[in-house]
Amino acid sequence: MQRSEASPFKATARAGSNIAFIKYWGVADPRLNIPLNNSISMTLGALHTTTTVEWDVAGRLSADEITIDGERAAGPKAERVIRHLDLIRHLAGDRRFRACVVSRNNFPMASGIASSASAFAALTVAACTAIGLSLDRTRLSAIARRGSGSASRSIFGGYVEWERGNDDATSVARQLFPADHWALRDVVAVVSTAEKAVSSQNGHALALTSPFNAARVDAVYTMLQEVRNAIALRELERLGPLIEQDALAMHAVMMTSRPSLLYWQPGTLEVLHAVRRWREEDGLPVYFTIDAGPNVHLLCEPAFERELLRRLQTLSSVRTVITSGPGGDAEVIDQHLF
Ligand code: DP6
Repeated sequence: MQRSEASPFKATARAGSNIAFIKYWGVADPRLNIPLNNSISMTLGALHTTTTVEWDVAGRLSADEITIDGERAAGPKAERVIRHLDLIRHLAGDRRFRACVVSRNNFPMASGIASSASAFAALTVAACTAIGLSLDRTRLSAIARRGSGSASRSIFGGYVEWERGNDDATSVARQLFPADHWALRDVVAVVSTAEKAVSSQNGHALALTSPFNAARVDAVYTMLQEVRNAIALRELERLGPLIEQDALAMHAVMMTSRPSLLYWQPGTLEVLHAVRRWREEDGLPVYFTIDAGPNVHLLCEPAFERELLRRLQTLSSVRTVITSGPGGDAEVIDQHLF
C-alpha cells in the first residue's frame, strides 16, 4: 500500500461506541480477530472517542507516546495501541515513524461501556489519515477489527453488520441502515463502575470451552435475517426478543466456560426483572441487552424514554444512566496540513 504525497502527518478522528444486538463472542482466529459469527450493532452517537495521531517525521520520539483521557498509557493498554500502530506503519510501508497519540472518551472508561470499539475505530481513521493511507470504509473496518473486533463496526454509523468472513479481507463490517433510519434509544443502566475482572479480549478465547457455544452460534445464524428484517421495518417488538435471547445466550456461554465468567452483579438482575415486569404488567415496550459487564442496555422508542428514566430512578442499584441514539460514521474532524 502506498502513501500519498500530500500526507498531513497529523489528524484527528472521532468514532462512536456501539451496542451489539447480535453479539460477537468467541474468535475463530485470534491473531486476525476473525469472529465465530456475524454480529449486528447500532453505533452510538452520544458516546464517542476522539483521537489525534501525529507521526513524528522529524524523528524526535524514540518510542510511541500514548495518552488516554489525560493519562500516559503504559503496560498492556499501551502495547495494544502500539501493535495497532505497527500494523498501520507496516501497511504504509514506513516503519520508521513513531507516533504521538492523544485519545479522549466522552464517557467514563470504567463505566463498563465498550470503549475499545470507539477507541480502535478512531485510532484507525486518525492514524491512517495522518500517515497518508487513503482507504475506503471497508478497508478501514478490516484494519480496525485487528485492534478490537467490535471496532470494525464502529467505522460505520447507524445500523451495522460485521460479516464473519474467512480472512483478513472478508471479515469486515457494512452499514445496513444509516442513523436516520430509526431513532432508537439506548438507555444504559449503570449498576457498577468497577473495572471488569476479565477483559472481553481474554473472554473471547474461552467461548470454545463452553458446551453451549456451538448451540449459540447455530441459533445466531437463524436469527440474523430476522434481526435485519426487524431493523428494516423498525419493529422493536420483533427485534427486542431476539436481542434479549442472544444476550442471554452469550452470558450462558460465558457462565459455562472454563473458567466460568460471571459478569452479572445483583443490580444486573434487579434491572432485568424490573424491565420484564414493566413490559408484561404495564406494557412498557423496553428490551435489554448486556455486554461483557454488569450494566444493562435498554432499548426503547424515543416516546418511552422519559417514562423509562423515571422508573429507573426507583431502582436502588442503578447508580447512573447514560443515553444515546444512533450516530454517524467514524470521521476525520481535523487534518493538520503543513
Ligand atoms: C460482549 O470487541 O471488546 O461487547 O476484539 O478483544 O477487543 P476484542 O473484543 P471486543 O468484544 C466485544 C464483546 C461484546 C459483544 C459485541 O460488542 O459484539
